[in-house]
Amino acid sequence: SGSDELIFFVNGKKIVEKNPDPEMTLLFYLRKKLGLTGTKLGCAEGGCGACTVMVSRFDLESQRPLHLSVNACLAPLCSLHLSAVTTVEGIGSTARKLHPVQERLSGTHGSQCGFCSPGLVMSMYVLLRNVRRPNMEHLHEAFQGNLCRCTGYRPILEGFRTFTQVRGHTEVTQRSRRGHTEFQNGSCCRSKTNGCCKNLDLDLDLDQDQTRLHLSHLHLSHQLHLSHQLHLSHQL
Ligand code: FES
Ligand code: FES
Repeated sequence: SGSDELIFFVNGKKIVEKNPDPEMTLLFYLRKKLGLTGTKLGCAEGGCGACTVMVSRFDLESQRPLHLSVNACLAPLCSLHLSAVTTVEGIGSTARKLHPVQERLSGTHGSQCGFCSPGLVMSMYVLLRNVRRPNMEHLHEAFQGNLCRCTGYRPILEGFRTFTQVRGHTEVTQRSRRGHTEFQNGSCCRSKTNGCCKNLDLDLDLDQDQTRLHLSHLHLSHQLHLSHQLHLSHQL
């Protein structure tokens, strides 16, 4: 019957699972069933952040989507009902186009073996979705759950701290300036045609709309579902 169905989105694609396994984790589902192996399996117990994804829900009270960073290794698949999941594949790739968050991490050599990188990217992405102009405190808090064995964290923070500035004009260290094409010659990319800052605004706005669309769709299907159930119980 309809009530056994799990309905959610992954990177904008609607998924309907009939009789989902109540013991399955979101991480297992992403990697094994959807083949989305960008989300990594590290500790499998919520300690390393390699499996970080974004889970968005439509908040009925505020009528806005809520974005959470979630350890997919701990999240039961069935907890995703009526949510939208975004994985690292959903925000950018070398085949299509890197998201500014990915670009800046690689620009400062914040990725070595790369195992922690997707999780770091997703933590930063979720932070930017929730806080347009984060400060260093936001950053430190956002990365509390992400471990990296290789880099010692400094190049990671140097890459991501470029998001704390008011669009390219403050808080840019020499090193990150060298690492980022957008800061070459010390000028902000805004002066160029397809610069990073413009892309960032664009990308965030674009998928914000997308998420809103998907979530309002979920909200709608949820309501339909509820009214269907009410209708049925009324008949009984
Ligand atoms: Fe380490 Fe999920 S795999 S937190
Ligand atoms: Fe290797 Fe972070 S780059 S664990």
